[in-house]
Amino acid sequence: MNETRLIACTILGGTLLLAGLQAIAQEKDSTSPQPPEPVQQPVEFSHRRHAELGLECNACHPGGDGERAGIPQTADCLKCHEDRDPSNPAFRSLFEHAQAKKPIAWSRVYQLPSFAFFSHKAHAAAAKEDCQTCHGPVASRELLWKEREISMKACVDCHKASQASVSCTLCHELNQ
Ligand code: HEC
Ligand code: HEC
Ligand code: HEC
Ligand code: HEC
Ligand code: HEC
Repeated sequence: MNETRLIACTILGGTLLLAGLQAIAQEKDSTSPQPPEPVQQPVEFSHRRHAELGLECNACHPGGDGERAGIPQTADCLKCHEDRDPSNPAFRSLFEHAQAKKPIAWSRVYQLPSFAFFSHKAHAAAAKEDCQTCHGPVASRELLWKEREISMKACVDCHKASQASVSCTLCHELNQ
């Protein structure tokens, strides 16, 4: 936490928030960065395979123009795979979830802490950024990992470069 940020926070009267955030910042400093290993998922799924079939991102992430992109669930997969042989090993985990009526607990790859606000709509529509800028070449990946930074620095660097606001309250809701 540098002095400029401290002052900015105090001026905005976000002292409660600041105390909380400082604790988080300290906690973060003590952990080493994650190695770029693919995130393991409970159901077999390959972005590359589906991109090769010509599927657009919004076929499965229809909310890409909304605040959340969203992640498909069992029923969404079954729209295309209902007729599959459930004993096919590639589809076994999907059909196990379907039979048990169990939602797929996808492990999240890109997730911000709850104190930071982000909207896909503002970026996809207003800023005309494509998915790759923040998520890398997803269409050529079997499994995903966090290969692009979504740290505060990454956000602020681009905001500065594109003359977007860097006001704390754009991304953080202060307590008063
Ligand atoms: C818009 C249609 C569509 C949706 C939605 C879809 N798939 Fe597919 N998927 C396909 C097609 C077409 C293939 C290639 C033909 C096939 O193997 O059935 C495929 C192939 C696969 C394969 C086989 C990969 C391989 O090695 O051949 C798996 C596993 C799979 N999909 C899982 C899923 C899961 C899990 C979901 C939901 C998160 C999903 N799919 C959503 C159309 C879709
Ligand atoms: C056939 C469906 C399908 C298509 C098409 C698809 N995705 Fe996905 N996407 C998924 C599923 C299922 C997951 C959850 C499993 C995973 O992370 O691989 C996911 C996860 C993601 C994630 C990680 C989300 C997180 O934070 O956990 C990103 C980023 C993403 N997709 C981007 C894209 C982009 C960009 C495209 C277009 C190039 C795309 N997806 C096309 C189904 C799809
Ligand atoms: C400016 C950077 C940026 C761009 C551009 C971007 N994303 Fe994201 N994406 C993020 C961030 C940050 C998160 C985490 C959001 C959170 O946790 O609140 C995220 C989360 C996701 C998720 C997880 C589910 C969700 O909605 O939180 C998916 C899926 C995803 N993005 C897909 C896409 C797709 C598809 C595109 C292109 C249409 C795209 N993203 C463009 C930054 C971006
Ligand atoms: C690739 C460049 C880029 C990156 C990376 C980026 N932004 Fe932005 N962001 C923009 C631009 C440009 C705008 C202004 C869009 C406009 O003119 O409405 C914007 C606008 C916003 C807004 C205002 C939304 C609204 O409704 O007015 C928020 C909040 C925001 N960004 C948060 C974030 C966060 C949080 C991150 C990091 C996880 C991030 N941004 C990463 C370029 C970026
Ligand atoms: C463009 C968006 C954006 C702006 C503007 C922004 N932040 Fe952040 N900030 C974030 C994101 C995203 C995180 C979470 C990063 C993470 O943990 O992955 C964060 C995290 C933090 C943290 C937690 C510690 C850390 O560094 O991760 C503090 C404290 C903080 N911000 C304070 C501020 C203050 C003070 C300002 C104004 C000077 C500000 N932020 C402006 C996006 C922003």
